[in-house]
Amino acid sequence: MSCDEKVDCGRRRLLLATATLGGVAGVATAVPFVASMLPSERAKAAGAPVEADFSKLLPGQMMAVEWRGKPVWIINRTPEMLASLKKTDAKVSDPDSLKLMQPEYCRNETRSIKPEILVAVGICTHLGCSPTEKFKTGAESGIDPDWAGGFLCPCHGSTFDLAGRVYKGKPAPDNLEIPPHMYLGDAKILIGEDKKGA
Ligand code: FES
Repeated sequence: MSCDEKVDCGRRRLLLATATLGGVAGVATAVPFVASMLPSERAKAAGAPVEADFSKLLPGQMMAVEWRGKPVWIINRTPEMLASLKKTDAKVSDPDSLKLMQPEYCRNETRSIKPEILVAVGICTHLGCSPTEKFKTGAESGIDPDWAGGFLCPCHGSTFDLAGRVYKGKPAPDNLEIPPHMYLGDAKILIGEDKKGA
């Protein structure tokens, strides 16, 4: 096994542990791994990049992985969802994300590397609650008859579009953060590390 493969194995183990957190089995398997590490190793693992495979994520679906104790969403946007970003441009407070809430390589219309795949930290930029997915559009959303799909923060009502851009007049000051990430394959990303030094 080469050195690179060993590193990958480590990442996979971390991802497996985080993916099962919340279940009794997850706690049972994660604890011995963490307990066997020295404090400096533990700190390193807590900030380590995390691999995510989204090959089973269908258009219109999202999944979450844990990175540095935060939920990171991966959303597979449909063409309709992408088209909605044009409509929300005028309604969001920082349409071009000039406040740099994303790495340089995601400073584009879709705030992503691949247009359809959004990778964003699922933490509201107001006081840190986790927004909920509101992909249903229009009156069916229960938010607004013109709702184009996005996210609603249950704490104080901030709303975000399908690129994680915050709507005007809401308590959240910034768009959702896009973490550094890079593609390891067509449907596999590494979150927390990139080759472009973001
Ligand atoms: S924490 Fe999200 S709106 Fe306040």
